[in-house]
Amino acid sequence: MEFGELNDLGIFQHFTVEEEIGSEFLTTRELELISNRHFSKQLDFIRGRTCAKMALKKMGFPIAQLELLSEPDGQVSWPEGVVGSISHSKGLAGAIVGWKKDFQSLGIDIELRNRVQPKIWNRLFTEFEQEHLLQFPLEFQSEKATEIFSLKEAFYKFQWPITKTFLGMRDVEWQEHGFDTGISSKLPTYRHFTSMYNQHLISVIFG
Ligand SMILES: CC(C)(COP(=O)(O)OP(=O)(O)OC[C@H]1O[C@@H](n2cnc3c(N)ncnc32)[C@H](O)[C@@H]1OP(=O)(O)O)[C@@H](O)C(=O)NCCC(=O)NCCS
Repeated sequence: MEFGELNDLGIFQHFTVEEEIGSEFLTTRELELISNRHFSKQLDFIRGRTCAKMALKKMGFPIAQLELLSEPDGQVSWPEGVVGSISHSKGLAGAIVGWKKDFQSLGIDIELRNRVQPKIWNRLFTEFEQEHLLQFPLEFQSEKATEIFSLKEAFYKFQWPITKTFLGMRDVEWQEHGFDTGISSKLPTYRHFTSMYNQHLISVIFG
């Protein structure tokens, strides 16, 4: 599975639907990072790192020489000159990478469609966002809510490497033209890409 629109933008991608994949592409030091984690989290990490290495291969990096450790803040230590992002969800994991000369940052999020139900809206969405969601027919509200939630997650991963600012879900307001936050002046111009793949929603923020 590949999104031609991302390729056209110079964003390299790799996705996998396999829940359990082998760890043959991971180094000993990468595997050490997850030795104490719950089994399902180990699988998530392996799926994400494998996708990231496959995407980097498409940029020309030899997989055997790649080691993608994690920074203390959780983001990936990408090779020099590269920006990227990873997301893992039940049933689909993916990674996007690009050259730093082309992008200041990339953020990706993958969610199961209709995941965000109204009972948790109050924790995730501002009053403006909730009013916007209520304008949709009932049967589309959860899908639209998941879309905004996912864009916010992707936005968080996009902005973090640049601003190192923690933003809670209600600190950021989605609006038609972008996100309303207190950190907009620190960010480059960014755009978003949203697509569906079977039961999954994929959100990307790039700029
Ligand atoms: C970090 C966070 C965004 C991860 O998202 P998630 O939906 O839990 O999980 P995902 O599978 O989509 O993403 C996990 C990946 O995010 C990446 N990540 C973790 N911390 C990160 C950070 N600070 N900046 C960028 N990427 C980060 C990692 O690559 C991680 O995968 P890995 O551990 O296998 O390397 C989320 O847990 C979080 O802390 N969010 C903060 C609050 C927020 O989302 N605010 C939104 C309003 S802007």
